[in-house]
Amino acid sequence: MRQKLVAGNWKMNLTYPEALALVGEITSLAGEAGAASAPTVVICPPFPFLHAVGQQLPPASNFHLGAQNCHQKESGAFTGEVSAKMLASVGCEYVILGHSERRQYFREDDELLGQKLKAALAAGLKPIFCVGESLDTREADETFKYIGKQLTDGLFHLSNEEFAQVVIAYEPIWAIGTGRTATSAQAQEVHAFIREQIARAYDAQAALDTTILYGGSANAQNAKELFSQPDVDGGLIGGAALKAADFTTIIQSF
Ligand code: 13P
Repeated sequence: MRQKLVAGNWKMNLTYPEALALVGEITSLAGEAGAASAPTVVICPPFPFLHAVGQQLPPASNFHLGAQNCHQKESGAFTGEVSAKMLASVGCEYVILGHSERRQYFREDDELLGQKLKAALAAGLKPIFCVGESLDTREADETFKYIGKQLTDGLFHLSNEEFAQVVIAYEPIWAIGTGRTATSAQAQEVHAFIREQIARAYDAQAALDTTILYGGSANAQNAKELFSQPDVDGGLIGGAALKAADFTTIIQSF
């Protein structure tokens, strides 16, 4: 189901007390955002804080818990890893997969991401699947070709039913943590392209029903303009998700 959605990716930041303070501030500031018209908000803290942060989210509200990664296997001798089933058991409903930082620093490729997607879906989690081009790719005018391949190889192997659970995030790598946001026109152009590719791989209804987020230096100042684009359904927010007031402004930017 297509929805307005803002996800906060806390990445590898904060201590436990800081995480609790932040979620407390966000839920009290964004309190009235529990109204029916409010967007879905997904808070994605680091693994050790998931359960406690989830406990702070108002029950049966628009706030949901998400993780930043999961392992592809359900259980077993994989020291240091966390399965999708474990995440679901502590209250997660979403999991970010295919983030460019995972692709780059942890060598996650389409094959591995395919397995992670299947594991997440099998555990009942909704994947937030990230795609996005580097600056070199954009400057070589190969953005569409690159994103098209990421979608085809990474995502479009899913069945219609599986794909219906997926949220897509377009995060141009050159915009992540750089302060250099894509213009709303650049974001819209790629989001429209992604929707076209979904229509080709699945059908027109699937394209209309898919939630597509923008991520990359989105902040309290530019969120409204980005979210006003017809194919931008919300944001995947990094740095600004760590500041309660800014994140709340972003939630209220539709
Ligand atoms: P920034 O908002 O800090 O650029 O990070 C975006 C991001 O990577 C969210 O997943």
